[in-house]
Amino acid sequence: MAKLDFDILAQSGRARRGRLTTRKGVVETPTFMPVGTVGSVKSLTPGEVSDLGAGIILGNTYHLLLRPGVDLVAEMGGLHRFMGGWTGSILTDSGGFQVFSLASRRVVTEEGVSFRSHLDGALMELTPEKAMDAQTLLGSDILMALDECPPPDADREYAEKALLRDARWAKRAKSALRPESGALFGIVQGGMYKDLRAQSAELICELDLPGHSLGGLSVGEPKETMLEVIDATQPLMPRKKPLYLMGVGAPEDLINCVGLGVDMFDCVLPTRMARTGTMLTKDGRLNLRNARFARDSRPIEEDCGCPACRNYSRAYLRHLFAARELLAYRLGTLHNLYFTLNLMARIRQAIENDNYAAFAREALDRLSRGEH
Ligand code: GUN
Ligand code: ZN
Repeated sequence: MAKLDFDILAQSGRARRGRLTTRKGVVETPTFMPVGTVGSVKSLTPGEVSDLGAGIILGNTYHLLLRPGVDLVAEMGGLHRFMGGWTGSILTDSGGFQVFSLASRRVVTEEGVSFRSHLDGALMELTPEKAMDAQTLLGSDILMALDECPPPDADREYAEKALLRDARWAKRAKSALRPESGALFGIVQGGMYKDLRAQSAELICELDLPGHSLGGLSVGEPKETMLEVIDATQPLMPRKKPLYLMGVGAPEDLINCVGLGVDMFDCVLPTRMARTGTMLTKDGRLNLRNARFARDSRPIEEDCGCPACRNYSRAYLRHLFAARELLAYRLGTLHNLYFTLNLMARIRQAIENDNYAAFAREALDRLSRGEH
């Protein structure tokens, strides 16, 4: 079997309903990947993540490299087993993005990037080859090539230099794969410059990898700019391969970007917001710490089937958040991930019904009205 198969089952406008088959199993697309940065989706067990309907999660090479170390994870049987038996698929990010957002004293050369760990200041180096070895040791099913994600205000010259180097790095990443490695995705960069995006797309697609991602987006640019870049770049990508938009996962972004032909997403937004008491609902966001919920006996969302909404009132959850009880973070995370994964299921259904444009219009309208 190939390391990755992708079948398109239905289409509605540019939105695609697909099926991704990794060596660990089937993932229905469009899909959202909960983030398990250090080998745990914060506060949840793998069984709970699976019960919420997730088929694939994201792990971070950068964090696992620093702690506990990828050799240790490999010794313990790989990340799936180390986590206590995650039976779904794992996509790992290469470390490039985290080096540029977390580490200090970065030095980028043609060879790779050296940096100091944000945990203990240790000097580390990541090259395209080391990023592949690390992800292979983790047992990742989908590996990302090492890349440099330029800041949103990068000038043309900077963005072009970075994308050209990223393309050379992606080629080196491909050469560094081993028989036991999972499937490699290349990353299209190019800042907010559409012609540079086109140049990057051409160079990355030339490598004939099993899938592609759009990187360097949702890094602080206006929403309109992000959508315009995706709108211009997606048609340049091969139709038959999965397209992954990195680091995007707000409900309205998921709806808009599926409409532009994106198949895969990951983002800390649902899990991170949950820990601050911000709940995602069909009617927009609701912050449970707000005093107006003190005596509200309703669930977060009336028709939600998640473990938080089935059993607990807004009043109780607000109390838990006020008291900083650990249960607050767990229940909030369960709701926000359930909501996001359920949104993806509704999105898939709308594509199957060839009704995506109407679905998107209605869902976006309801989100923005924010009536609770
Ligand atoms: N996560 C979000 N954006 C990016 C990106 O541009 N590159 C990588 N490697 N990961 C990301
Ligand atoms: Zn719920």
